[in-house]
Amino acid sequence: MDVPIEEVECPSPQNLEKAAHQAFSDRWKKTDDTMCRHSMSFHLLHSLRNEFFASYVYLLEKIPLVKLFPVTCEFIKGEKQFYYRSQKFYEDVPASEEGMMGDFVEISHVDLEGSREFLNRFVGPGKAGTQCALDCGCGIGRVSKGVLLPVFEKMEMADMMEHFLLHAHEEYLGDDADRIETYYCYSLQEFTPPAKKYDCIWIQWVACHLTDKDLMNFLMRCKKSLRPDGVIIIKDNMARQGCKLDPIDSSIIRHLDIMRGIIFKAGLEVIGVEKQEGFPEIMVPVWMVAMK
Ligand SMILES: C[S@@+](CC[C@H](N)C(=O)[O-])C[C@H]1O[C@@H](n2cnc3c(N)ncnc32)[C@H](O)[C@@H]1O
Repeated sequence: MDVPIEEVECPSPQNLEKAAHQAFSDRWKKTDDTMCRHSMSFHLLHSLRNEFFASYVYLLEKIPLVKLFPVTCEFIKGEKQFYYRSQKFYEDVPASEEGMMGDFVEISHVDLEGSREFLNRFVGPGKAGTQCALDCGCGIGRVSKGVLLPVFEKMEMADMMEHFLLHAHEEYLGDDADRIETYYCYSLQEFTPPAKKYDCIWIQWVACHLTDKDLMNFLMRCKKSLRPDGVIIIKDNMARQGCKLDPIDSSIIRHLDIMRGIIFKAGLEVIGVEKQEGFPEIMVPVWMVAMK
């Protein structure tokens, strides 16, 4: 009896390569979730994944540098949604200190005091100058008023929400509003600050609203807008492990080491790190990171 011979299509070398590529992507994609849950192995796996995958794609596709930002991409499930949700969230937030601090307005003064002390370490003779600072994701200017304006002669402020900037200018900053040179109503992921202008760029509770890739690119642009000896300071919630998405305000908290990785990739050097003390235990830890 004749046994029918099945015709099997022989895959072309290109198809094989594609299939192998897909298999690697799928495998490593799955690993991301586990990595986020087990932060101990996170860093090792993360570097291995990036390095290995980069070399693999280089060999296969001759793409010399592959930048993968698996963490936030996995979590946010789409960049447009991620930014749209935070835009919607802040539209309904009142232009007030309560609005800026959420449920924790009573710790605003502790926060500002911690920031003033941290900033002092990087400003002064032989360190950053005091001509001009930029407050990013400034909201109504709580940090500008309590930390930056007492130190810097002039300031600029950037936030995506117009009603916050208007309130800052018309009411909240009082006479100090005269020392604000420019209000930039921009999303940071689309904002390029002017070159070589600032002694200090302060980024508080807004890095969490940017994807890894956008944060890295924004930091690169900030680096170009520093004056000699200028400093960039990020102050933000940092996850106790891995990273976590808050779907309500569409923010992502990262472990300090993940933040360090992004800073490093942006070509900046960390020059000081400090945990904000005095916040209630139920709060996610807040850290300050200075870089140049
Ligand atoms: C929690 S508030 C903090 C405000 C201020 N930094 C403070 O500490 O008081 C976050 C601010 O970031 C702004 N923001 C959120 N996402 C942003 C983005 N992608 N670009 C610019 N501003 C953004 C919001 O409009 C809001 O004013």
